[in-house]
Amino acid sequence: MSSNIGVMGHPIGHTKSPVFQQAGLDELGIAETFEAWDVAPDELEEKVTTFRATGFLAACVTLPHKQAVIPLVDELTEAAESVGAVNWIFNRDGKLVGHNTDGTGFLRALKEKTGFDPAGVDAVVFGAGGAARAIVYALKLAGVARLTIANRTVGKAQALASEFSEGRFKPDAIGLSRDELANCAPYAQLLVNTTSLGMAGGPAEMATPILADMISADALGYDAVYAPPMTKFLREVENAGATSAGGMTMLVYQGIEGFEMATGQKAPVDTMFAAIEKAFKSG
Ligand code: ATR
Repeated sequence: MSSNIGVMGHPIGHTKSPVFQQAGLDELGIAETFEAWDVAPDELEEKVTTFRATGFLAACVTLPHKQAVIPLVDELTEAAESVGAVNWIFNRDGKLVGHNTDGTGFLRALKEKTGFDPAGVDAVVFGAGGAARAIVYALKLAGVARLTIANRTVGKAQALASEFSEGRFKPDAIGLSRDELANCAPYAQLLVNTTSLGMAGGPAEMATPILADMISADALGYDAVYAPPMTKFLREVENAGATSAGGMTMLVYQGIEGFEMATGQKAPVDTMFAAIEKAFKSG
């Protein structure tokens, strides 16, 4: 029989979620196994139906299902609605609630692990894909003063900017050329990479969206990429004398919010971080 909590994606072999989620469940004495479910797109609907079963707690949702599950749940939270993606499904007495913790996980990672508060700062987000959506949502929520979305395909940055524009919050959209970046990046206190540049096994592992000479020494550079832990972008941030932070903290905090909503208990954060750090060290 399948467990009452887990993560589903396709493929799923790479996932680190079970490692830290299981450590959390064990620490609290919750007798559940956090499983990893490989669910192909044509099996998705059937799998989601099983989440309504009595006793089922929650499913973390990862690629490629974050949007495909939207019509399969009964209700979306405001975060899921705004981000346009679901990364957690909770079973509330047979009713499935789709939620998104990627953006709020990012904010909690910033606050708890770097002490950084984005309220009132100038920020640049590189990329305009799924991860960028969650981060733009989060930065809007946190009250950044000015946001620039820089993406290889400018049209995608423009679409994202106009979708999230509201009142005085009006992100600028630009390309990745040095000329365009020169007008915003050196003045930004927060730079976030959400592109796949620098990602292990990705198309451009040795690439970065920006070089050190355009990064302020007072800035924080956050990379949503977590493998490798030290990306080319983060090296540029460090070369500029700025503070760097890798994406593992966002991965864990999105999971921690999901864990807390699934179990109704406060997550043992230190234990969960220790588990994932150990897993990364041992490869
Ligand atoms: P995710 O869900 O992880 O955000 P995605 O939606 O596929 O993934 O988005 C990938 C992002 O990385 C996009 O912003 C993409 O830029 P485009 O919109 O122009 O495709 C960016 N990206 C991927 N490869 C890139 C490259 N070689 N150079 C610059 N940007 C790249």
